[in-house]
Amino acid sequence: MVLAAEQRAALLAWGERHRRDLLWRRTRDPWAILVSEVMLQQTQIARVIPRYTAFLQEFPTAFDCAAAPVAEAIRAWDGLGYNRRAVHLHRCAQVLVERHGGSPPHDLPALLKLPGVGPYTARAVLAFAFEDDVGVVDTNVGRVLARWSGRRLGAAEAQATADAIVPPGAGWLWNQALFDFAAGVCTRRRPRCAQCPVRPSCRWQGQGHDPAEGSAGVSGGQSRFEGSDRQGRGRLVAALRRGPLPRSEAAAAAGWPEDPARAARVLAGLEDDGMVVVDDEGTATLPDAGR
Ligand code: ADE
Repeated sequence: MVLAAEQRAALLAWGERHRRDLLWRRTRDPWAILVSEVMLQQTQIARVIPRYTAFLQEFPTAFDCAAAPVAEAIRAWDGLGYNRRAVHLHRCAQVLVERHGGSPPHDLPALLKLPGVGPYTARAVLAFAFEDDVGVVDTNVGRVLARWSGRRLGAAEAQATADAIVPPGAGWLWNQALFDFAAGVCTRRRPRCAQCPVRPSCRWQGQGHDPAEGSAGVSGGQSRFEGSDRQGRGRLVAALRRGPLPRSEAAAAAGWPEDPARAARVLAGLEDDGMVVVDDEGTATLPDAGR
């Protein structure tokens, strides 16, 4: 066990004092939790807050989302990046309506089968909507677990470690405390070990090589956005939110007027991902935008 019972109690107490009052922590509605967690997968909290509110106003239930054209979900994703997630969430809503009565199921294997839902999101729904005692391992929690363990962890090990240390009956509080602790104390670049409530249990304590480096699920940060394909992808989707786009204008819309081949490749990628359809005349639109 990486944390003794008394250290876990110390972290829970720290969490009580430092818990951030985030909108999605005020609800237990599984659909709202799912929406928030898909948004939070790759986007910072400050950016998620306004979009989360707007998205749930437009789609208060999975039924509302499933009934809308996917183009509406992609439009509502504006500003969040990684737009593919909107397509997944829309398909997810349809599966929820078809197979689960319109709400995310209280069942890990069934959650894992949903489009775009991986081990992190599935367990986040279990912990934050159903208050289950499961460990929720995102990149930040993965970093903390590796440091406490004093060594790199594989994905299965990190999950097993996370599950083993949840104080019984406190799954919701515990996972929120861990997120806040990872974001505010055990940070990636400058961990505040002097203020750490569980320092005695930590095998690393900020000394020597950081075991989080190269540990499963721990990212080294997102790759550079400026000049990336991702940037061009984002620009193309932004243009398509405004209306149809002739293929001949894709290079300019992507921000690469000198490189139509690159724009064509990125547009083809968007088509493969179900984000864009290109008709016989070579006009690109968001899927079923004209419905
Ligand atoms: N609370 C619930 N889920 C969260 C997340 N992914 N990040 C930060 N706080 C959260």
